[in-house]
Amino acid sequence: MSRALVTGGAGFLGRRLSARLLDEGFDVVVLDNLSSPSPLGPPDGATFIEGTVVDPPSIDGPIDRIYHLASPASPPRYLLDPIGTLRTGGEGTRQMLDLAEDRNARFLLASTSEVYGDPTEHPQREEYTGSVQVTSTRACYDEAKRYAEALTYAYHRTGRVGEVRVVRIFNTYGPGMAPDDGRVVSNFINQALAGQPLTIYGDGSQTRSFCYLDDLIEGIWRLSASDVDDPVNIGNPEEMSMKELASVIASEISDTGIDYRPLPESDPARRRPDITRAQTLLGWEPRVGFIDGLPPTIDYFRSLADG
Ligand SMILES: NC(=O)c1ccc[n+]([C@@H]2O[C@H](COP(=O)([O-])OP(=O)(O)OC[C@H]3O[C@@H](n4cnc5c(N)ncnc54)[C@H](O)[C@@H]3O)[C@@H](O)[C@H]2O)c1
Repeated sequence: MSRALVTGGAGFLGRRLSARLLDEGFDVVVLDNLSSPSPLGPPDGATFIEGTVVDPPSIDGPIDRIYHLASPASPPRYLLDPIGTLRTGGEGTRQMLDLAEDRNARFLLASTSEVYGDPTEHPQREEYTGSVQVTSTRACYDEAKRYAEALTYAYHRTGRVGEVRVVRIFNTYGPGMAPDDGRVVSNFINQALAGQPLTIYGDGSQTRSFCYLDDLIEGIWRLSASDVDDPVNIGNPEEMSMKELASVIASEISDTGIDYRPLPESDPARRRPDITRAQTLLGWEPRVGFIDGLPPTIDYFRSLADG
C-alpha cells in the first residue's frame, strides 16, 4: 500500500484531502501542530502526529507522497504571527523537501493565488509574475509562499527531489472551515446566522472567485496523480463582488444589513484564475457553482452554531 504524509492534515483542506487519499487506497499520516484545525478534527482512519513542520518529529517508514499544506492560511491568522508564517513557509517547506529527498517521495506544495499579489493582469495565468508589495503586512504570507515555490523548484532542478507538483489554490469554501478563521464566506455566513450586519471592507466592489471544496480536492488529486511539474491554478473562475456575495448570503439566510469598514492594506481588487492549464493538462474544471455549494456550507455552520 502506498503511504502519504499530509502536513496541515487537520485543517479545512487537509482533512478532506486525507479522506480522499484514504479512499484512493493510501495509508495516510497527518502532521499538524493544531494551530488552526478544522472543527471537524483530523480525518478518521489517518495516523495523526502532533508537531510542527518547522521542527518536525521523526516519521518512520516509507513515504511515497508528501502533500505539504501546513501554513497559517487566512489573513487574521497569518497577520497574528508574521514571523511564524514566514518560518513555516521557509523552514517548514525546507524540512518537508528534505524528507521528500530522504524517502524519494513525490512532493506537492499547496501554494496560493496570493503569489499574484494585487494583480495587474486579469484573469491570472500561471505565467503572470505577480504584483506583491514586499513591505506590506500581507507579504509575510505572499512571500512565504513565493519562497516555498522557489525552494521547491530549486530542490527539483538540483535533482534532490525528482517529482514536484505545485498547486496555486484560489479562495475555497465549504463544510469543515473554522467559523473564526476570518475568510469572507465564513464571516458573512456566521454574521447572518447570528443576526449581525455583514462586514464589507471598502466599497464592496472588490471581487473574489470561490471554489467549492469538492472541486478543489479533485483538482489537487488529479495534479498529484499527473506528471505536470509546472504550477497549476485550481479555482473557480466565477467572479463575484463582495456586495454580490453579501446579497446572495442575505437572500439565503436573512438580510441583516451591511457594516462598511476601511479597506485593509494591499487587499487585492480583483482575483480570478485562468484555469486553461488545469483544463488542458488535467481535464479538470469546477462542477459546483456558488449557488449549489452555498447551502451545504450554510447547513454546516448552522450545525456548529447549534452545537
Ligand atoms: N482555503 C483556501 O481558500 C486556500 C487558498 C489558498 C491557499 N491555501 C493553502 O492551502 C493550505 C491549507 O489551507 P486551509 O484552508 O486548509 O487552512 P487551515 O488553517 O484550515 O489548515 C492549515 C493547517 O495547517 C496547520 N499548521 C499551520 N502551521 C503549521 C505548522 N507550522 N506545522 C504543522 N501544521 C501547521 C494548522 O493547524 C491547520 O490544521 C495552506 O497552505 C493554505 O495556504 C488555502
